[in-house]
Amino acid sequence: MIHDNTSFRTDTSVSIRDLSLSFGAVTVLENLNLDIHDGEFLVLLGSSGCGKSTLLNCIAGLLEPTEGQIFIKDRNVTWEEPKDRGIGMVFQSYALYPQMTVEKNLSFGLRVAGVPREEIDKRVARTAGILQIEPLLKRKPAELSGGQRQRVAIGRALVRDVDVFLFDEPLSNLDAKLRAELRVEIKRLHQALKNTMIYVTHDQIEALTLADRIAIMKSGVIQQLDDPITIYNRPNNLFVAGFIGSPSMNFLSGELAEEGGRIVFKTGETRFSLDGYGHAQPLTPGRKVILGLRPEHIKVDHDVAGGEVHEAVVDIEEPMGADNLLWLKYAGQTMSVRIGGERRYKPGSTVKLGCDMTMASVFDAETEERL
Ligand SMILES: Nc1ncnc2c1ncn2[C@@H]1O[C@H](COP(=O)(O)OP(=O)(O)OP(=O)(O)O)[C@@H](O)[C@H]1O
Ligand SMILES: [Mg+2]
Repeated sequence: MIHDNTSFRTDTSVSIRDLSLSFGAVTVLENLNLDIHDGEFLVLLGSSGCGKSTLLNCIAGLLEPTEGQIFIKDRNVTWEEPKDRGIGMVFQSYALYPQMTVEKNLSFGLRVAGVPREEIDKRVARTAGILQIEPLLKRKPAELSGGQRQRVAIGRALVRDVDVFLFDEPLSNLDAKLRAELRVEIKRLHQALKNTMIYVTHDQIEALTLADRIAIMKSGVIQQLDDPITIYNRPNNLFVAGFIGSPSMNFLSGELAEEGGRIVFKTGETRFSLDGYGHAQPLTPGRKVILGLRPEHIKVDHDVAGGEVHEAVVDIEEPMGADNLLWLKYAGQTMSVRIGGERRYKPGSTVKLGCDMTMASVFDAETEERL
């Protein structure tokens, strides 16, 4: 099921209608629907093999869907050649022409397409400016660093005057530091160009930082389509809740009960009041559920702002500079809690916990859907 909390807009850039794709007997995408707004940065997020590249390649025209249709700017492009679709694509494994300079690499596609010389020069200069690679134009790929090569690969897509840019894990070949740098540059690029961008990644940080909206996929099915904050704070189901967030959301198994006229979450002898939890489905006593709490929504000792107080024992701590991550033993389960980096606890110490239940998530144990 697709959950789209944004209101209806007519400024659709890319529209995917009932798209199915099978490789022989293997169905990768089934009846997928997705509308991407004009100028939107949409991230397709999911683990390896979930069908992200397959979907992107269908949009690009590199794969022919088994069923369904694709519209770009209200034009049905389902049977059009890739070059006629008004898209530019950056691949995960970018192959630059090794014998050509950066400038020639950038202009190659335009020369083949017969674009006039002055227009090519203008576009190459503009692209080199945006990507800050002007000083590299006369070099060959072998004389560039990995990050610089990646910029040229992005540049090859940008020189094309297109409505929609498609990125397939463009940063995954780079080391962590370079990835973080180029991530910021891609964001800046989008702010400057304001084109529609569809960006595939399995990296949740890239998704959270870059996206206007994230479509999170599992086995070819979109699990949730929302802005990053909504995905993070109000995940639709257990899969989304567990996929986003590092360390992962804490999950406690238990059931709902009515005690003293209010609904509580009960696990073993422990109770959590669900006062303040904004539920969309009835919290029926007896229902088996999973309570989800993010590490930063559990307060420790002097941060506990009244309300219900629990006690837990510190198992280990993982100081990470700005933050300290405490792993606690609580109600027979392990929980992680994020506190300030300057606050330290010895293993075995007892701490007081307070949970912000307005930020909690409750899932039905069977359907795994958010209540
Ligand atoms: N040509 C093909 N023939 C058969 N199966 C294929 C083919 N291409 C992809 N698949 C299968 O389709 C599924 C989706 O593949 P896809 O490349 O879209 O995954 P992905 O989400 O991009 O993964 P990754 O993050 O690893 O790139 C996988 O199970 C894959 O094995
Ligand atoms: Mg892929």
